[in-house]
Amino acid sequence: MSSPCSSTTIVIFGASGDLTWRKLVPALYNNFKKGRMPECAFIVGVARRPYDDIEFRSRLRDGIQQFSSETFDEATWRAFAPMLHYFRGNLDQEEDFARLSVYLDELEEGAANRLYYLSTSPEYYERVVAALGQAGLSTQPVGWRRIIIEKPFGHDRATACALNQAIHAVFDESQVYRIDHYLGKETAQNILFFRFANTIFEPVWNRRYVDQVQITVAESVDVGRRAGYYDTSGVLRDMFQNHLLQLLTLVAMEAPASFTADAVRNEAVKVIQSIRPINLADTVCAQYEGYRNLEGVAPGSETPTYAALKLHIDNWRWKGVPFYLRSGKALARKSSTIAIVFQRPPHLMFNLSDEYRLTPNILSMCIQPDEGIHLRFEAKQPDSDQQMRSVEMDFHYRDSFSGALPEAYEKLLLEALRGDASLFIRSDGIESAWHLIDPVVAGWEKPGTFELASYTPGSWGPEAAQDLLARDGRLWLSGCDEHA
Ligand code: BG6
Repeated sequence: MSSPCSSTTIVIFGASGDLTWRKLVPALYNNFKKGRMPECAFIVGVARRPYDDIEFRSRLRDGIQQFSSETFDEATWRAFAPMLHYFRGNLDQEEDFARLSVYLDELEEGAANRLYYLSTSPEYYERVVAALGQAGLSTQPVGWRRIIIEKPFGHDRATACALNQAIHAVFDESQVYRIDHYLGKETAQNILFFRFANTIFEPVWNRRYVDQVQITVAESVDVGRRAGYYDTSGVLRDMFQNHLLQLLTLVAMEAPASFTADAVRNEAVKVIQSIRPINLADTVCAQYEGYRNLEGVAPGSETPTYAALKLHIDNWRWKGVPFYLRSGKALARKSSTIAIVFQRPPHLMFNLSDEYRLTPNILSMCIQPDEGIHLRFEAKQPDSDQQMRSVEMDFHYRDSFSGALPEAYEKLLLEALRGDASLFIRSDGIESAWHLIDPVVAGWEKPGTFELASYTPGSWGPEAAQDLLARDGRLWLSGCDEHA
């Protein structure tokens, strides 16, 4: 008997891991609750642990209760739970993919679309992709086949290129969705709406008016239980190659002609390819005190947990405008902010002393946690002669829109199901990002050439990061939460 509608199956490889439990299934549950899941959907978890459907569902129920941004309710869960299935399989065994193929055919009872999600540890990516190909699971005879690949996508450019090649041997690029969950954040997407759905900002969004751009992604958490992975990665690979560079492309790109995957990603790639090779003298790397005592960290590890960089985009719009980027673990607060700092007025007509310098206008895009936008400008102090003070005009999502902001994974899973890859990274985007980052990592890792600074957990990072800006007569700006 065939299903009443053609089904869509989401197959999650590595389904017993944290990502499935904390992010993916809670996001799918939220989409289901909002009526956004396809009809006749199945979610099949694949992993080695000896679960059955019942145990798998009970573990996921717990994850939804803890991590879903929507309130858990029994009726929704009862309707959602039957979609969840568990397939016990070993990703090293080709025959398990053949078994999986039979299992899926039986479950779907007819033509089906399939979205594969690689949430395994990265060393399995190539193997799983090849096995999907061998088992005939990648072809699209009836219904589509797509694949989402989690980060890290490669460890450097060479491994990213090799992974792209392995993927392209089995899937066409149009079937591939490389995740950067920062692109799923509402506030990151809003950068394009802010810039291109309004007319008043774009005319000043360039070297004539902008003095500098700062992008800060500060985390208060330390590396915690992920020390084993983190120690082989470090902050540049973990945060800059992907999240910070993607935020930068949204701020710096030219207007795409349409909001479609190719148009948006063409512009994103152009930005990354226009970034001047990074001068090592414009970089700072540091490690927080106590990092080396963590379990999983190599003795004497030189892995940086903090970095600050100065970048230049060599094109007509941005020539000469420095972009300062910083990110680190174990910092004072969680705060992700993009600050566009405008130039000072060219001439001061007010009757103020010569030393008086107007505070520049600053537009702060607050990615998290206090999602919104702040514009700082000068206002005349009432009842004064010509005194002025900086004041703020604020927009907060929580005040202007009702309901919690959706989780990034909700949006990204939905877009992959819809077949819109605008918020996913294309193969050339990934490779260009590594091309930029690799020489910095190599420079830092060359023994005896670069100094790894240290910083106190709970601080704002090393002194050297302050010096990087001080050399240019600038200061790091505090996060949006301080303006609130
Ligand atoms: C991940 C990194 O990609 O992003 C983590 O691997 C980091 O190290 C996380 O903590 C930050 O994401 P968010 O959404 O909490 O800012």
